[in-house]
Amino acid sequence: MKKQYKRIFILTGAGISAESGLSTFRDSDGLWNNHKVEDVATLEAFEKNPAFVHKFYNELKPEILNAKPNPAHLCLAKLQEKYKGKVNIITQNVDILHEKASSKNIYHIHGKIDEAMCLECGHILQSAEDVDMSTICPHCATKGKFKPNIVFFGEMPLYMPEVEKHLRECDLFVSVGTSGVVYPAAGFVYTAKYYGADTIEFNLTTTSNNYLFDEHIEGKCSITLPEFVEQLLETQENNGE
Ligand code: OAD
Repeated sequence: MKKQYKRIFILTGAGISAESGLSTFRDSDGLWNNHKVEDVATLEAFEKNPAFVHKFYNELKPEILNAKPNPAHLCLAKLQEKYKGKVNIITQNVDILHEKASSKNIYHIHGKIDEAMCLECGHILQSAEDVDMSTICPHCATKGKFKPNIVFFGEMPLYMPEVEKHLRECDLFVSVGTSGVVYPAAGFVYTAKYYGADTIEFNLTTTSNNYLFDEHIEGKCSITLPEFVEQLLETQENNGE
């Protein structure tokens, strides 16, 4: 991939934050091996027992918010800073490690752990503290109507119009640390490829859709991704850009 790209689309998943100490979802020690998705990550579960769902996310919050970015997050911020082309980060992660690494142009399509939405008025509350059924909305003063601003199964991911546009326009699509089984994110590579982008995947292991990628780089992304970023920057320099 020794080209100068104009628009790079980076899709990140839980694997990019694994080396910051955060659990993935489907690996052997992943969240979905220890919890039932249908108990904590569906609209039905939330409607049935909102207090239980709030407790689950409140318990996860401190660990996620205290985590520190690793070299994979940091190298993406460096790429955004030094690369002449536009670099957008579309993350499935609810952590804020791209922000902590000083990245910009970040789209949290599955929401963020430190946000809650008032179902009464739509106000987004940003809070590192617990949010539960006793929380009062500062905007409409209604009590007990907050939902974690996390996209549950059965809900539409956020920012899809912008994401679709970036997918059509990108000339390089990079997938980092995602198993590629949750749609629509799992299908992004199809769109990017259809519109002519080069595609590359970084993962610890083989994924079920790695045949869709022009290149598959196996290994810890804290090592493989910084190497790739250096290559992109070197190519840019050699092209005199
Ligand atoms: P998964 O847990 O499904 O996949 C994590 C991927 O990261 C796996 O393919 C691992 O092999 C890979 N991985 C782990 N450590 C890595 C490392 N150090 N370097 C490179 N790769 C590594 O997580 P996601 O694909 O992000 O949705 O899951 C997608 C969505 O499913 C999540 O956003 C979440 C979940 O249900 C919501 O909560 C809405």
